[in-house]
Amino acid sequence: MDLKSLIRNIPDFPKPGIVFRDITTLLRDREGLRFAIDAMAQTCQAWEPEFIVGMESRGFMFGVPLAYQLGVGFIPVRKPGKLPADCHSVEYDLEYGSDRLDMHKDALDPGHRVVVVDDLIATGGTAKATADLLERAGAHVAGFCFAVELCELGGREKLPSNVPIVSLVQY
Ligand code: PRP
Ligand code: ADE
Repeated sequence: MDLKSLIRNIPDFPKPGIVFRDITTLLRDREGLRFAIDAMAQTCQAWEPEFIVGMESRGFMFGVPLAYQLGVGFIPVRKPGKLPADCHSVEYDLEYGSDRLDMHKDALDPGHRVVVVDDLIATGGTAKATADLLERAGAHVAGFCFAVELCELGGREKLPSNVPIVSLVQY
């Protein structure tokens, strides 16, 4: 299936110079949605995760159905002030702006095997911050899986070189 044809391109959103890769048009297409989650599941299954870790908010849209499909639990990484219990926190940079990510300290035990899932990797700041959160938790990151990769931004170079990184669609 041509997943790229289901992703809408919006020039100059959310600010001039950014081409926004809009995955809502992929999510609303029932065959596209199923194909994307199945493809992610096939890749991630081989990494034998005990948990899927997904980043707010678009990472939840792929991460939860993927975890369901694989029969494992889902752990949310959230923007500041959203999680109610004690958190690990990491600051990070975006293609447009900066923010902080939180994860519950008791979500994972040291040695837990996880796969990190997001809709898109751009600069890699979000994925790197998530990798840092998982390092603090002592978890083992078995792989990173993205629906979309913006290759010219070099995001994968920020991630640990010994961990596999897979994306379904590249720009
Ligand atoms: C977007 C996207 C990724 C991140 C990628 O999330 O969903 O999480 O940016 O950019 P990076 O590789 O440069 O870090 P955003 O922070 O816009 O939040 P959203 O998912 O709530 O829309
Ligand atoms: N997140 C960061 N950069 C993005 C882009 N160009 N399109 C969609 N989501 C993004």
